[in-house]
Amino acid sequence: NSHSSSSEEETKEKHVVSAAPVDNSDNAGNEIVEDIFDPQDVAGDEKELRAPICCILGHVDAGKTKLLDCIRGTNVQGREAGGITQQIGATYLPAENIRDRTSLKAETAIKVPGLLVIDTPGHESFSKMRSRGLSMCDIAVVVVDITKGLEKQTVESLHLLRCHNVSFIVALNKVDRLYGWKECTNAPIVEALKKQSDDVKSEYKWRLTKVVTEFKENGFNTAPYYENNKKKKVVNIVPTSAESGEGVPDLLLLLVRWLPDIITDKLAYDDTIECTVLEVNEHKDLGTTVDVVLINGVLRQGDQVIVCTKQGPVTTIIRDLLTPHPMKELKAKGCI
Ligand code: GTP
Ligand code: MG
Repeated sequence: NSHSSSSEEETKEKHVVSAAPVDNSDNAGNEIVEDIFDPQDVAGDEKELRAPICCILGHVDAGKTKLLDCIRGTNVQGREAGGITQQIGATYLPAENIRDRTSLKAETAIKVPGLLVIDTPGHESFSKMRSRGLSMCDIAVVVVDITKGLEKQTVESLHLLRCHNVSFIVALNKVDRLYGWKECTNAPIVEALKKQSDDVKSEYKWRLTKVVTEFKENGFNTAPYYENNKKKKVVNIVPTSAESGEGVPDLLLLLVRWLPDIITDKLAYDDTIECTVLEVNEHKDLGTTVDVVLINGVLRQGDQVIVCTKQGPVTTIIRDLLTPHPMKELKAKGCI
């Protein structure tokens, strides 16, 4: 038996490209920095794009899992955050769910059908898993705890990103831990920062400067995204709180609106199947199931597939295709 995590229906859905005109007008009361986008970039030729695969990397406890929970809107239950992640998890976020979390209006185009987010473990003993996650991703979010700055696995991740030539955004997380932080639930970060006292603002400034310096020491130019006018050369930093959601709309906006524009060619939809196995399982009812990330192309029930195994190539037919629900996580811990 062979089951894979995709379906024709789902894939068809992914092909839908919004051709709606871009509307950057009237952002009243909304401090999210929308003018970071060059309207021409967005309105340019409408290539059919696939969903980018985004890896979340960073040191243990930086808040990777909690940030993903926050994006999914599942952080209320607490889930796994706080426990060390020991596996790779993949979550598909449809564009419309992402739109709901940002200030984007219904008529504003999102060029990608969604985002596949891969959560990785930060613990040092899982470096193989991180590198595996990274090898299939198009973009990445490096989560840094603002109270700690760059740590060992952050630097390791930066090295991997450089080797794979992957564009990334820095989520400078846990801003709510700044002493005296005034909570502004799910607010765009510029708006939230404006509401803070001078003491909080100055602590934020020096911690941010420290992190920028640490990145510099590792060979990366970075800047807070709302001040960054060389976005293609200087890595964007988005301050966030996975606890109260400040900055999360900004992070999502950068991921779905800005990043796809700089890697358009990489995301051009292609019929050639590109598929990575996350995990192989023995299911008591289904038999052998294979969890895969489908990067490009379409898988259909009845397709013949050849899988590499330790005993050599195995030829089999896809008996059935099962997809995890959007916004729900598929996890893989073994053999990676
Ligand atoms: P590993 O999976 O072990 O690599 O860690 P992780 O980066 O996934 O961290 P996780 O999301 O599990 O969070 C670690 C701890 O920090 C948990 O106790 C979280 O509740 C807490 N935490 C994460 N993000 C934030 C944040 O933005 N603010 C605050 N106050 N706490 C946070
Ligand atoms: Mg985690």
